Amino acid sequence: MSVTLPNDPAREDVLAGRPALWLNPNLKPDGISDPSLPIRSAQVSEAEANWRILAPVLKTCFPELEASNGMILSQLIEAKDLRKALGYAGPEYGRVFVKADNDLPVAGSIKARGGVYEVFMYAKQMAEKRGILTPGGDITVLASAQARALFAQHTIAVGSTGNLGLSVGIAARALGFRAVVHMSSDAKQWKVDRLTRLGVEVVQHKADYTTAVECARIDAEGDPTIYFVDDERSEMLFFGYSAAASELAAQLEAAGVTVDEEHPLFIYLPCGIGGAPGGAAYGLKAIFGDAAHAFFVEPVQSPCALVHMMSGSKELVSVYDVGLTNRTEADGMAVARMSAFVADVMKPILSGVFTVADDDLFRWLWMAETTQSIRLEPSATAGFAGPEFIVKSTQGRAYQEAQGLKDKLAQATHVVWTTGGAFVPEDQFKQFLERGASLVNVD
Ligand SMILES: Cc1ncc(COP(=O)(O)O)c(C=O)c1O
Repeated sequence: MSVTLPNDPAREDVLAGRPALWLNPNLKPDGISDPSLPIRSAQVSEAEANWRILAPVLKTCFPELEASNGMILSQLIEAKDLRKALGYAGPEYGRVFVKADNDLPVAGSIKARGGVYEVFMYAKQMAEKRGILTPGGDITVLASAQARALFAQHTIAVGSTGNLGLSVGIAARALGFRAVVHMSSDAKQWKVDRLTRLGVEVVQHKADYTTAVECARIDAEGDPTIYFVDDERSEMLFFGYSAAASELAAQLEAAGVTVDEEHPLFIYLPCGIGGAPGGAAYGLKAIFGDAAHAFFVEPVQSPCALVHMMSGSKELVSVYDVGLTNRTEADGMAVARMSAFVADVMKPILSGVFTVADDDLFRWLWMAETTQSIRLEPSATAGFAGPEFIVKSTQGRAYQEAQGLKDKLAQATHVVWTTGGAFVPEDQFKQFLERGASLVNVD
């Protein structure tokens, strides 16, 4: 279908594939309490409690979680040198941090928070149903021979641009499930190879992400031995991600950051289908309310959340519907159509969405590595455009005005969520760096 986007200051740039900031006209004060939302914020606390329940078995399955006692956590890093390279040295940028999910253990991306959670929760439920695990009993039985024998008769399936497949595949194989990952054509070969080495069956589609998910869904339909991790609808994934919010809140407090009406918090989250950024944003709004300003970021040719939310349509609008190509080097964000569930939840709570050009992703990748040794994949760098958009752009100034933030910028905090990179093979990373270096005119 062909869709005409409504009049909006960002429309022309969005349609021309130029970087733009769209402000959500449906953002509501105290939007998190909107009774029309299909979920409740208490579900975030439930997910946090579930993560704590799972921790002992996660530690058993993944020795790298020994130090964190089975919790999958990332660092919060103050971008002291990096902010200078980015042009954010001035006091008007307040404090700038990186939430380093690029370095998350187990799966090397933010997808560890969703994929690992859903697979382990599914295993827990199955083990309880079969009487292997008694409610409140020793969760490490999920890693026992008896449980593995049960899981081996079941398959976990998922559609992915790469990182969700990695996290679901790694988690499923760690428990002894069969795993099938349907990869979109955007997926990088090293992600496919890594999964194949783990014994995951990888189906490589010559089509986009929406099609890969559809194929995975059809495969699973009618077969009770296949459990489909549904990135388009899964609340389990969403709440797995949402638990990151309390982790970040504690880290901000430890860093001496105050978040309240006088001290705004801006969060920049790379968005594909919307589950990961949506979950994290929802969790943060549940904690900080209107003091948290959550923005998604997408590639200029794949702004699926932006075009759908801007359209105001009840039917999902894809980037193809407005004449964009969905072509980007940012594989994790190469998604043409967002999740309808996430769109509904974000409507009253998301501040806006901005877009970035691929070349900038490589520039920022190079800057992050050379200034503070933060190793990123291209998708993961997108949020670095955030402070400039908010502080300097016309739309950003309009947002400051509308939200009463004009005099509060120096006491604001910006958190750029860097969402993947730790697992990128050395030769591939070197190529990324070379491309970034050439773009910032460095030998
Ligand atoms: C590195 C990275 N960042 C961000 C995202 C976006 O997550 P979502 O598709 O849940 O919006 C992905 C998705 O795969 C990703 O791999």
